[in-house]
Amino acid sequence: MSKRKILIQLDSDAHPSVFDRVVAIDAGADEVFSYGGVKPEAVPALVDGAIFTRGIKDLKSTALFIGGSDVTAGERLLQVVLASMQPQSGHRVSVLLDSNGANTTAAAAVRAVANHLPLNTVRALVLGGTGPVGQRVALLLARQGAEVRVSSRQQSRAEAVCEAIRKKVPGARLDGVAMTGPPDLPGALDGRNVVFAAGARAVTLLPRDARLACPTLRVAVDLNAVEPLGIEGVEMFDRGVEREGVFGYGALGVGGTKMKIHRAAIARLFESNDQVLDAEEVYALAQTL
Ligand SMILES: NC(=O)c1ccc[n+]([C@@H]2O[C@H](COP(=O)([O-])OP(=O)(O)OC[C@H]3O[C@@H](n4cnc5c(N)ncnc54)[C@H](OP(=O)(O)O)[C@@H]3O)[C@@H](O)[C@H]2O)c1
Repeated sequence: MSKRKILIQLDSDAHPSVFDRVVAIDAGADEVFSYGGVKPEAVPALVDGAIFTRGIKDLKSTALFIGGSDVTAGERLLQVVLASMQPQSGHRVSVLLDSNGANTTAAAAVRAVANHLPLNTVRALVLGGTGPVGQRVALLLARQGAEVRVSSRQQSRAEAVCEAIRKKVPGARLDGVAMTGPPDLPGALDGRNVVFAAGARAVTLLPRDARLACPTLRVAVDLNAVEPLGIEGVEMFDRGVEREGVFGYGALGVGGTKMKIHRAAIARLFESNDQVLDAEEVYALAQTL
């Protein structure tokens, strides 16, 4: 008889995300064990509890989910989780990192663009590209051969994101730009065919006149769901709606795909005990949906 599917939620926030718990159940987990305020030093004992309780053939029915609002904290937890597994003896379980929904959201955003353009022809501007979602959008695009411009209010932060991605994707075509206000937009948008607004919620990063002044623009993806929205002229529920020559996706339009990817990623965890799902693996999964 197959074992009940147990998802062990390691959340860096004090209260483990209710959203992530609900999605886990909807994606087929029978039980969700939720731990909040998880610090790296607590991880080895938690992983021991996951990997040493069932026979190796049943370990595919136990999996780990790393969440919380702080993606850097989530990445650190993932490192310790991986170091705590015992792959030589088969004592390991699959793990998904999706702190702040960054991986599943970025995968959905990039899939939206792929509906319109081959990704290796994309010349993207990622506004607010230093946050967790923007960084992963930039990484996924670079991996697919796109040309990516990352913006930040501080040039040095944009450059740091580009440098980190170059380490993962040698030869990636990236540049960082400072975006201190609307006067910087024409230069940053010059020659771009795709723009993402991945800035903080309730901040408009691309006003309508700047968008219209960019004749090469084909696709605009806004990830901010809280008004004022990130791109003027793209509505929250837009899902490939063409307006003024640009195909627009709003945060809730992308959000539907994000939910499908999130559920599929949880379900994938229970297929085998050896999977590590981070940005690129989540994107590969999204491509199969
Ligand atoms: N649709 C979905 O399913 C979904 C899921 C998850 C997240 N989201 C949304 O996706 C967006 C990105 O998420 P995130 O967690 O990566 O965002 P974040 O970390 O909160 O912000 C991203 C970047 O925005 C810039 N920023 C912050 N305040 C700003 C301001 N007042 N003016 C201009 N830029 C500002 C910062 O960059 P610099 O300091 O470098 O300029 C920051 O690194 C958010 O709007 C979030 O709500 C959507």
